[in-house]
Amino acid sequence: MVIKKICCIGAGYVGGPTCSIIAWKCPDISVHVVDISETRIKQWNSPNLPIYEPQLDEVVKECRGRNLFFSQDIETGINEADLIFISVNTPTKTFGIGKGRAADLKYVESCARKIAQIASHDKIVVEKSTVPVRAAESIIHILSANKKPGVNFQVLSNPEFLAEGTAVENLLNPDRVLIGGEQTEEGRLAVEELVSVYSHWITKDKIITMNTWSSELSKLASNAFLAQRVSSINAMSALCEATGADVSEVAMAVGQDSRIGSKFLQASVGFGGSCFQKDLLNLVYIAECLNLPEVANYWQQVTDMNVHQRTRFTKRILECLFNTVTDKVLTIFGFAFKKNTGDTRESPAIYVCSHLLEEGAHLQIYDPKVVPDQIIRDLTNVNVSNDPDRIRNLISIHSDPYEAVKGSHAIVVLTEWDEFLMYEYKDMYASMKKPAFIFDGRKFLDHDSLIKIGFQTETIGKRYARNAGFSFFSLDTLKD
Ligand code: UDX
Ligand code: ADP
Repeated sequence: MVIKKICCIGAGYVGGPTCSIIAWKCPDISVHVVDISETRIKQWNSPNLPIYEPQLDEVVKECRGRNLFFSQDIETGINEADLIFISVNTPTKTFGIGKGRAADLKYVESCARKIAQIASHDKIVVEKSTVPVRAAESIIHILSANKKPGVNFQVLSNPEFLAEGTAVENLLNPDRVLIGGEQTEEGRLAVEELVSVYSHWITKDKIITMNTWSSELSKLASNAFLAQRVSSINAMSALCEATGADVSEVAMAVGQDSRIGSKFLQASVGFGGSCFQKDLLNLVYIAECLNLPEVANYWQQVTDMNVHQRTRFTKRILECLFNTVTDKVLTIFGFAFKKNTGDTRESPAIYVCSHLLEEGAHLQIYDPKVVPDQIIRDLTNVNVSNDPDRIRNLISIHSDPYEAVKGSHAIVVLTEWDEFLMYEYKDMYASMKKPAFIFDGRKFLDHDSLIKIGFQTETIGKRYARNAGFSFFSLDTLKD
């Protein structure tokens, strides 16, 4: 079989960009991206794509209508395709066994059932969503129990490693492409078919093939290792604040060791995003189920440290603002979980803002890409607040950063957007209440010039000398 038609089920942060690049790089392949959400599909077919990713607009504009199609017609998509990517969401379960830790595979299962019901010729089914180890086995089971007579399926694992904000770049120049398949002749042939798709633009040495379970576990392991580095440097940041060391200097010294490397050593208010937390919890759950409690505890600590870092930063804000933010106005710069994305899933901003709102602060929020409705949804979500009306009254969302700062007691920087480096902080300072504070949760602003302007400057992993007269209490009421 030569792959001529691809269907991707799920037009989200993974399916959308991945299939756009496949269509761009493989003009001989027709790519049909389908989704149950009418709104999402309408957005993919409009000038305003549902997700913000640098360079993605241009790619979609060039391919859409040529060999890239977005629709809700899942049945046609499945039926015509030689190869189907499953790119649906796999959130953490919110109820039942494994609640709060295990991945919820209901969307993946529903795709597998749909494929079995519709498919009238042989297909390669590829799991792209991050899934627990041995999920492919469940997909195989569902497909073979429900398929039409004479139809054969091969199930592959092909986890996606793109990071949001750099998706196009990552897809064009990946460190590696991982393809896991069954160790049978049919399995090897299916793997070769998928290799031939990626070979349109990726050299063979970067395409790694292995067994399905290794491929599934490698994705969880990669995210766990990356998250662990962030938690490790964040743990160091607490030590730096207590001792007078500077975490950037420590990170630089540590990262110079070629065995360690310099990436993912930026101390921050904590990691967010749709993957790290979910995959860590998934790993913990798998280890527990396999009766490996020490392994489970080890990885649990990485996420515990992340929660601690967010709380520690919020406590610091409270301490500096004379132990109360009730009725004070705080400006929040950045709500996305990282720069260059409008995605807020698991963003540390949600947790920091919620703590501040609980304490009665008024928040004036500005983010260059996150839509206001999303911010309101995140802060009034039942998991973070049981009084949505009160929260709505305490927040205002701004489209101009200078307006967002007016009359506030402090600026709290929660995302490392480049534009935050360009502002006229002198003008902002003039429009704020005094003493005016700035809390840099990403440790990336020019602190020397902020201090010169007059800001009381606080950051992660470094303590600046403060004005005399501050009292410090331990804020034990604020739990992790
Ligand atoms: C991650 C993985 O990098 C990617 O391979 C996988 O496919 C999906 O999960 P993503 O969540 O999009 O990608 O972004 P990433 O760049 O990994 O950042 C995750 C979080 O860690 C962000 O909140 C970021 O701000 C934070 N981070 C990252 C730090 O705090 N410090 C760092 O040094 C790096
Ligand atoms: P990810 O970050 O993993 O891409 P998203 O939530 O951004 O996750 O995207 C997942 C997409 O999958 C959503 O647009 C959702 O509507 C879609 N989806 C979920 N279940 C199905 C299904 N059974 N059939 C088609 N699309 C689905």
